[in-house]
Amino acid sequence: MNVKDQELREQATLEIQKHKLQVESDPYRLTYHLMPPVGLLNDPNGFIHWKGTYHLFYQWMPFKTGHGAKFWGHYSSPDLVHWTHEGIALTPSDWFDKNGCYSGSAVDDNGTLTVFYTGNVKDEKNNRETYQCLAVSEDGLEFEKQGVVATLPKGYTAHFRDPKVWKKGEHWYMVVGAQSLQLDGKAVLFRSSNLKEWEHLGAIAGGNTDRLGYFGYMWECPDLFELNGKDVLVVCPQGIEPEGMLYQNVYQAGYFVGQLDYEKARYTHGQFTELDRGFEFYAPQTTLDAKGRRLLVAWMGVPDQQEDQQPTISHKWVHTMTIPRELTLIDGKLYQQPIKELEQLRQNQVSYEQVSINNGVLELDQVRGKSIELGIQDLSYGDRSIEISLRGEIRFIYDPQEKQATLERKSYVNGLTEARHCRLERLTSLQIFLDTSSLEIFVNGGEEVFTSRIFPYPDNELITFASKGSFNFHVNKWDLKYD
Ligand code: FRU
Repeated sequence: MNVKDQELREQATLEIQKHKLQVESDPYRLTYHLMPPVGLLNDPNGFIHWKGTYHLFYQWMPFKTGHGAKFWGHYSSPDLVHWTHEGIALTPSDWFDKNGCYSGSAVDDNGTLTVFYTGNVKDEKNNRETYQCLAVSEDGLEFEKQGVVATLPKGYTAHFRDPKVWKKGEHWYMVVGAQSLQLDGKAVLFRSSNLKEWEHLGAIAGGNTDRLGYFGYMWECPDLFELNGKDVLVVCPQGIEPEGMLYQNVYQAGYFVGQLDYEKARYTHGQFTELDRGFEFYAPQTTLDAKGRRLLVAWMGVPDQQEDQQPTISHKWVHTMTIPRELTLIDGKLYQQPIKELEQLRQNQVSYEQVSINNGVLELDQVRGKSIELGIQDLSYGDRSIEISLRGEIRFIYDPQEKQATLERKSYVNGLTEARHCRLERLTSLQIFLDTSSLEIFVNGGEEVFTSRIFPYPDNELITFASKGSFNFHVNKWDLKYD
């Protein structure tokens, strides 16, 4: 541990103590989502199930609610539900990461917790440099940096980052998010037999290739994994224009399904599909746990999307993670479902069988709250739209004629209504996770998901159901609380 590292740790710890009361008195502090203790949180990093414990690191700026020289913060959990905030994993204290220990991933190397991250460096003239770095831990808490293991290959700008590492057969592979010199987003593959020496194999996917036209100027946070016999590539392209209902957020997060030829380093794939239809979702990262599940966590935020206007900034913190989700691939489409463990949070179940609305608005006595789960099943409706309004702030609407699902909220910037949409053939069920300032709606068992922050009047717990036609359903409601 160098002197700089020690200083940064002390300063960050002081910052937590200094603002603790202000942070914790925020009515928008979430109850079952992961947040920074102070400052800004963004991407999930190093997500891994290691020696029976789940670890989730995160991009963290302790000193302000904006971006900058990032640390790796650290949470651990026995069950993905109860989390402990651990000490700081990485600080930007070395020449190769002095402007940020940027995003990366973790693997288990024969019992050693091994993390890869991008060392972000700005020189005196503010020119960017990028280094893919390695750090190891024997106890899962203290990390020893081992420095740079891969430098920038020819053909790319210094926007080259976010290594995701996995093992296939005898080799380790690393996919990195990149920008080519022609300013196309790319996913670049490396191979290694010892995790220290990496061979650059080239871009496996990207814009302006035989498979895709222009597809953004940069791809961030790639992830590549096998599911159901296919290779899924997740990327976050920047620079894609909105197209009808698609690509409405400032930057996107989505996936391709295909096959990676590891020998030729070629990835054949289908079209890009957005992972989420809501307002805030970015930089998802997955891991395979000991139960064989492919789990995903994402940042409930989007870079440059009016982040500096988020209401929690007055309380010295900003952003949160999504709940963990389990992925499955069905007919070439990724489905996301909340992990089963979250059922541990359920309390005070209330059930209403056969609720029936005919041209009206309905409030159900006991279906209200701030941190709750709603399970809505056996949905039936006519040809008129149906809607669910939550906490006076946000509405989910399904229009059976247009075959369209919509999430409409009041903008936290100017109070005006803003919307996100997706095509949906039919609506059969909804599983809704509300927290003090977040909403995650899983549609039809995870066929689509809408993830968003919400900032309602803290005391508003109202939930209403409405339709101008007929709307029948069965609803379960649980309060979500730790024991
Ligand atoms: C994505 C991202 C990554 C980078 C990190 C920096 O949100 O820009 O590409 O590693 O955030 O915090």
